[in-house]
Amino acid sequence: PPGLRHEAEAALAVCQGTIDANWAGFSGSGFCNADNATGAYAQFTVNASAAGPTALGIRFANGGSTARTANLVVNGSTVATLSFESTGAWSTWVTKPANVPLNAGTNTIRLDPTTTAGLPNLDYLDL
Ligand code: GCU
Ligand code: CA
Repeated sequence: PPGLRHEAEAALAVCQGTIDANWAGFSGSGFCNADNATGAYAQFTVNASAAGPTALGIRFANGGSTARTANLVVNGSTVATLSFESTGAWSTWVTKPANVPLNAGTNTIRLDPTTTAGLPNLDYLDL
């Protein structure tokens, strides 16, 4: 079922870069354009009603020609490394699925880029 949408520009989210709105197709009032640097992360604070594996959707755009990789860090532990493929244009947004272990209550979910290319542009996290 559709759960909660966590916009990258929301007060509870952290974007180590700028909140931009210059590429069409994003949801809400903007998206996170993280710095093009290793470790320039985006982080979402989310609430889970129960502990356990939880499906996520990460909406992103990558107008570059090569994939960008990022560690998926949940409550400080890396649980996966994700590859955000080129979407062909910065205005073409797609949603990548992932599955993460959450605790009941508050959790942090961070995308931490592993190369100097940094993250793709990030619109939101659904869970
Ligand atoms: C361009 C684009 C940005 C994007 C950046 C990048 O500057 O306008 O939205 O974040 O490329 O390569 O990360
Ligand atoms: Ca960027």
